[in-house]
Amino acid sequence: MTRAQTGHTAPFVTFEGIEGSGKTTQIRRLSAHLAAKGVLHLVTREPGGTPLSDEIRALVLVPREETVFPETELLLYEAARAQHVRGLILPSLLSGRAVLCDRFCDATTAYQAHARGLDASLVERLNRFAAGGLVPGLTLLFDLPPEEGFARVKGRGVTKDRLERESLGFHRAVREGYLRLAVREPGRVVRIDAAAPEEEVFGSVLRTVAQRFGW
Ligand code: TMP
Repeated sequence: MTRAQTGHTAPFVTFEGIEGSGKTTQIRRLSAHLAAKGVLHLVTREPGGTPLSDEIRALVLVPREETVFPETELLLYEAARAQHVRGLILPSLLSGRAVLCDRFCDATTAYQAHARGLDASLVERLNRFAAGGLVPGLTLLFDLPPEEGFARVKGRGVTKDRLERESLGFHRAVREGYLRLAVREPGRVVRIDAAAPEEEVFGSVLRTVAQRFGW
């Protein structure tokens, strides 16, 4: 479903990047900016956003002894998404409230297809199925070398989740997957240099959303 097909008028913006790319901080800052301007919006994240999707988030991210197979992981992310889109994102967009979402289908393409090696066309079909065809109007890709992302995650001092415990090689593949998406869909995916100072990164975010949506 494109914007025209769903009939919604509010912007749907997604934020993507490797661990430690600073996207969550940038969403928070953009949300404060929009609130100050009186722009109605909702901030949400994947996996998560509804009670059931949040339960799936906990299931998929907790480190565990048992091997979690890539196929299982993929289906859990898609199940969380199917619920999130229908239960929260679409109702919000249809009521005219913009949605800022921390990760969406591109994360599945970068992590489960590119880094885990699952079939890319299958992942694309499942993404479309789970999202009901909903495509973001704009995706901000916060790009930085995984070495730097790792250092930032370590600096947070919190216990790493199951995906954060993956190797540097895995996160390099995730980054490459994202960069390929930016090349493939330049009209939707905008790469932002996330290695720059936070203030500068936020300046790029503001310029981009002002240009697209007049925010
Ligand atoms: P977060 O740390 O940005 O909240 O994201 C949760 C983790 O889940 C992160 O390591 C990326 C991963 N992820 C996937 O592997 N596939 C997906 O489809 C999504 C949405 C997230």
